[in-house]
Amino acid sequence: MFRVIEINMFSKLFLICAFALAVTSQERLKVTLFFEGLCPYCHDFVNEQLYPGFKKLGSALDIDLSPTQRHVYNNSKIEWHCYHGPLECQINKISACVIHLSETQSVMMEFINCYLKDSDMDRSKEFEDALAKKCAAQSNLSWDKINSCLDKEGDKLLLAYEKRMDNLQPPLKGVPHLLFNDKTDDNIEEAAMDDFIGTACKLFKTKPKACL
Ligand SMILES: *[C@@H]1O[C@H](CO)[C@@H](O)[C@H](O)[C@H]1NC(C)=O
Ligand SMILES: *[C@@H]1O[C@H](CO)[C@@H](O)[C@H](O)[C@H]1NC(C)=O
Repeated sequence: MFRVIEINMFSKLFLICAFALAVTSQERLKVTLFFEGLCPYCHDFVNEQLYPGFKKLGSALDIDLSPTQRHVYNNSKIEWHCYHGPLECQINKISACVIHLSETQSVMMEFINCYLKDSDMDRSKEFEDALAKKCAAQSNLSWDKINSCLDKEGDKLLLAYEKRMDNLQPPLKGVPHLLFNDKTDDNIEEAAMDDFIGTACKLFKTKPKACL
């Protein structure tokens, strides 16, 4: 008799806990983007797909941005090499610091969307610096903190991103490269490049309201 009551209590508790979980935690879809600061298709994807997708799906997305570049040592001084040249390495380093410093996804996405929208290979370093400052102000990030990160932590952050790129399985073929929940899938990636929201929505087991 006593035993039966105990089991009932337990299953009631279990139901309460399961219900609490269901109402408090929306499943999150992890979206990883490997990008370069001056790659035109990366810009288009961020501005036309990922950012609007974030505006719609918000915290149901767990956005993970990974700038790509390589280092060499020149007389024991670290030097960064980027596909589109030194300006791109500067953009990647600023992006790495912003990702590091952003306390919310929204701050990170506002900055990255603003920054990649107007960055261009033909611009000067001065133009890019002014742009980064403007985007920091727009997304409530302190330019002083970004600057201090560039000096003190920028190289360390980029080295970690380089290692990440090297450890990627299957290996990185090019950028933009998009993974969902840490998995590479060429077909899903291709679909997401043209319709990020539609593709992301299909991948949720429990659809967020914005997908319905
Ligand atoms: C190494 O650094 C020096 C001084 O900054 C530079 O002139 C030279 O081109 C660099 N060498 C290579 C291989 O990048
Ligand atoms: C920046 O701050 C303003 C004013 O507090 C706020 O309305 C805005 O949402 C913030 N932006 C971000 C990206 O957090």
